[in-house]
Amino acid sequence: MLAVFSLNQVTMSEHFAAFAELVQRRRSVRKFDEQRPFDHDAVGRALELSLLSPNSSNMQLWQFHRVISLELRAEVARCCLNQNAAATARELVVIVTTPQHWQGRAEHNARMVRENFAGREDHPAAKRAFKYYEKLIPTLYNNDALGLRGRVRKLFSWFVGLRKPMVREVSKTDLRVCLHKSTSLAAMTLMTGLQAEGIDSCPMEGYDSKRLARLLQLAPGCEITMVIGCGHGLEEGIYGERHRVPSDSVILRH
Ligand SMILES: Cc1cc2nc3c(=O)[nH]c(=O)nc-3n(C[C@H](O)[C@H](O)[C@H](O)COP(=O)(O)O)c2cc1C
Repeated sequence: MLAVFSLNQVTMSEHFAAFAELVQRRRSVRKFDEQRPFDHDAVGRALELSLLSPNSSNMQLWQFHRVISLELRAEVARCCLNQNAAATARELVVIVTTPQHWQGRAEHNARMVRENFAGREDHPAAKRAFKYYEKLIPTLYNNDALGLRGRVRKLFSWFVGLRKPMVREVSKTDLRVCLHKSTSLAAMTLMTGLQAEGIDSCPMEGYDSKRLARLLQLAPGCEITMVIGCGHGLEEGIYGERHRVPSDSVILRH
């Protein structure tokens, strides 16, 4: 028993060491090697892992637009204000939220839950899950252009919140934030996966979202969370020593 316990301990600390190494090795790299061979399949593998990122209600309201061709990369780089990290990237991944797909995703999740609980539909957990995807999610995700439904929800949550703990982030804007949280987590998984593949990256929010959305022919409703430039970094692509504020000023114990 003790032997198994210590074996697990060793394995876990090895996992931690490998993970810490990836996190420490990842830097935002602004200049990539434009000559060195580049394996786009490695980006594909990292993207597949990104899809396993935690995401709000497992709604997966995201898309990952891969920009590979030289011509399109140049146009995307222009939308990214020709910053080096975009102009020299061998592939760019544009991460997008897709709130307009909420209905299909809610139905998909409800179907999956029904399959998982087949024959046990009366189980309290099953009833809760059905209610979640078939009632609560449609109530929260169904928005009109002006966000009026969201305002009504906000009023409702304020009223309920007078008496007991209640989720307050129920407006149309709150939903935008919620979707960008999930896509950001996927972006982090992607960058860590890329690092594990020996590929460097740079997350970017310095872009003209309107031009970029038009270029990629994004559907109405989509919003760009981030553009990730990928490639093999050059030494001069790291602009300086990494620095952070002291941890005790941002990690607080209560
Ligand atoms: C949401 C987000 C947007 C960013 N936008 C840009 C950008 O447009 N251009 C850029 O060169 N770096 C950008 N960065 C990279 C940050 O400047 C970088 O992560 C930060 O300076 C810390 O450095 P490190 O990533 O090397 O640890 C962005 C990072 C994040 C998370």
